[in-house]
Amino acid sequence: MTVSTITIPVIAIDGPTASGKGTVAHRVAYQLGFHYLDSGALYRLTALSAQRREIDIKDEHALAKLAGALPCSFVGEDIFLAHENVSTLIRAEQIGNLASKIAALPAVRQALYGLQLNFRKTPGLVADGRDMGTVIFPHAKLKVFLTASVFARAERRYKQLIEKGFSASIEDILADLRERDARDANRVIAPLKPAEDAHILDTSNMNIEAAVEHVLRWHAETKI
Ligand code: C5P
Repeated sequence: MTVSTITIPVIAIDGPTASGKGTVAHRVAYQLGFHYLDSGALYRLTALSAQRREIDIKDEHALAKLAGALPCSFVGEDIFLAHENVSTLIRAEQIGNLASKIAALPAVRQALYGLQLNFRKTPGLVADGRDMGTVIFPHAKLKVFLTASVFARAERRYKQLIEKGFSASIEDILADLRERDARDANRVIAPLKPAEDAHILDTSNMNIEAAVEHVLRWHAETKI
């Protein structure tokens, strides 16, 4: 990281699966004219690629190699793996689940580290994930830990999946979220937890607009 890169403001938004952080982070980035990093998409892309190549989940070395050379690109709202638009494919629950297993492997996290730092460009970055404020951008200007009850998150995820044309059951989603929360929070490396200096935002009873407003206000109040 160069000295000039360090001065580029970063807003780190972390939180559990389906907390709404993706939508909030995206809107905050849009409002500020900042770049946006969806770090979960990198783990999902690695998962999709691994599944297609039938790489064993236990083969950490092969998975890290794959992650380190991901031919991915982000164009507007679309995500490409080589020349294929995989924006919808990577949102499948099965891929999210595999991504969460792959994300527990230290070599994979290390392989994706530099790629994530590269998203820090002027005039600023909104980075969304699990370890943005704790590991990837520990000196972020603003850190937000966005959360919501597991029931509120299951309901949101259910609606999202139905809208995208996937079939879904609320009971299955609840079980899956609990399992994924536990795996993300209990893993040895970069576990899901708020940074000590993070603002906690519980959105169980809050709509997206209100959550975005909170983040923009904190951003305006925070000096670099
Ligand atoms: O945020 P999203 O649900 O797309 O992330 C998919 C999975 O990738 C998560 O369940 C989590 O295990 C992993 N992840 C991570 N660190 C990040 C972002 C995502 O471990 N910064």
